[in-house]
Amino acid sequence: MDVSLVRQLPELHKNTLLVVFLSAELLQTGKDLLPAGLIENESDLPEDEKRLASFQGNPLLLVGIGAETSLEKWRLLAHTALRDANSMGAERLLLVSAEMLQQPDTLFAVAESLHLSDYRFDVYKSDVKPASLTSALLLSAHSEADNIIEKARIVAEACCEARNLVNEPLSTLTAEAFSERMLQLGGNSGYKTETFHLAKIESLKMGGLLAVNRGSEDPPTFNILEHQPANPRNAKPIVLVGKGVVYDTGGLSLKPTANSMDFMKSDMGGAAAVVGTMSAIARLDLDLHVIGLIPATDNRPGRNAYVPGDVITMYDGSTVEVLNTDAEGRMILADALAYAKQYDPELVIDLATLTGSAVVALGHQGIAMMSNASEKQKTALKDAGQRTHERLVEFPLWDEYADNLRSDIADRKNIGGRYADAINAAKFLQHFTDYPWMHLDIAGVAWLPAPASYRGKNGTGAGVRLLVDFLDNYQA
Ligand code: BES
Ligand code: MN
Ligand code: ZN
Repeated sequence: MDVSLVRQLPELHKNTLLVVFLSAELLQTGKDLLPAGLIENESDLPEDEKRLASFQGNPLLLVGIGAETSLEKWRLLAHTALRDANSMGAERLLLVSAEMLQQPDTLFAVAESLHLSDYRFDVYKSDVKPASLTSALLLSAHSEADNIIEKARIVAEACCEARNLVNEPLSTLTAEAFSERMLQLGGNSGYKTETFHLAKIESLKMGGLLAVNRGSEDPPTFNILEHQPANPRNAKPIVLVGKGVVYDTGGLSLKPTANSMDFMKSDMGGAAAVVGTMSAIARLDLDLHVIGLIPATDNRPGRNAYVPGDVITMYDGSTVEVLNTDAEGRMILADALAYAKQYDPELVIDLATLTGSAVVALGHQGIAMMSNASEKQKTALKDAGQRTHERLVEFPLWDEYADNLRSDIADRKNIGGRYADAINAAKFLQHFTDYPWMHLDIAGVAWLPAPASYRGKNGTGAGVRLLVDFLDNYQA
């Protein structure tokens, strides 16, 4: 579906659904800007109330929005309008509101929501009926409206790329196939990709990644994505790290609960967010030097699988006693975080579907953040979370949690017991960092079992809109 700008109401026909978001503000400001007869005889509609009317003989849907709006409310309204248009069989949707006429943020939110709401993963469907709606038009008087709508499209498309990757099953998205997709997307969007294959990973002694991969038939990969503009604002790079477990069976500590494995193709949601973000910032040509690091493998109970009780020497030389092979994300992320040190990064952000504990704490509504970075950097990311509605809740990284990871025979163990596991995992990762770092546990938001407006169902692409907004507003 096409989303584009109109400066004035185009000629309407029966296949166009015109949706007017009616507010006191529109009734005032719209008088001069809108064609005669469109809202002249209307009065304010109560919030959430809809009235089907007609304008020049064509369908007109009036939607009351009340006085209080927010960007998130606009995203939800845009989703509903798109759904209404499709259910009415309209080919074209035309949206009019006072806010879209004037405010760039609202225009952006509506445009991105329309693209995100239009997403479908139908690669494996034999009979796909195309949606009736082929274009959406947004009426705006803002001088930058064209650029805003274009930018929203780029960000939404990057988010949908991340969704595609998450929705792709294991047989078509092994670690090596995932690397191919990164390369392809880099070619289309402009970031550089370098992939380390098994021999190189072995020579680098990435013990965490190799241990998790040992039960698998398919080799691991380690991927380095880079966006390096000519004159970046940041002297030292920002590094994004994504957990790329293309399938998590738990390994020998096999996932026990009924259905707990069904959606574990989504355990590379963090990696997908990094790939999507890299493609968006490359296409937007953001003036920041950003590097993406993605360790990728599946986690399987094969013949040579790593075992509970094993001791693994990690990439940084420290040792880990593995007491649960299902705590594999922290094993591969640890190597990537240690690898990031060589860049002397200004900031490292990792994203991972890391713990059930984060899902228990926040459900599908929030990201658990743990960080040793400055208040300024943390606040900047939390603010991006509020703007994009990819909201962050900070959990502590108190020293005492490290006690949970004490091992009898190694430097630390990979599990910390029943309580506060999202923090135990972060505490484990912290050992492998020596730079400002923010860890985002996105286990609850990367995958949705039921549809939720423009976020859709299944792979959500969570993290892409958050990171692009954060980087776009980054103060070096
Ligand atoms: N990939 C899972 C975490 C997860 C759970 C993601 C639910 C999405 C939804 C992770 O690898 C895992 O298995 N974590 C274990 C750790 C435990 C064994 C210490 C968990 O959270 O149960
Ligand atoms: Mn696991
Ligand atoms: Zn996992």
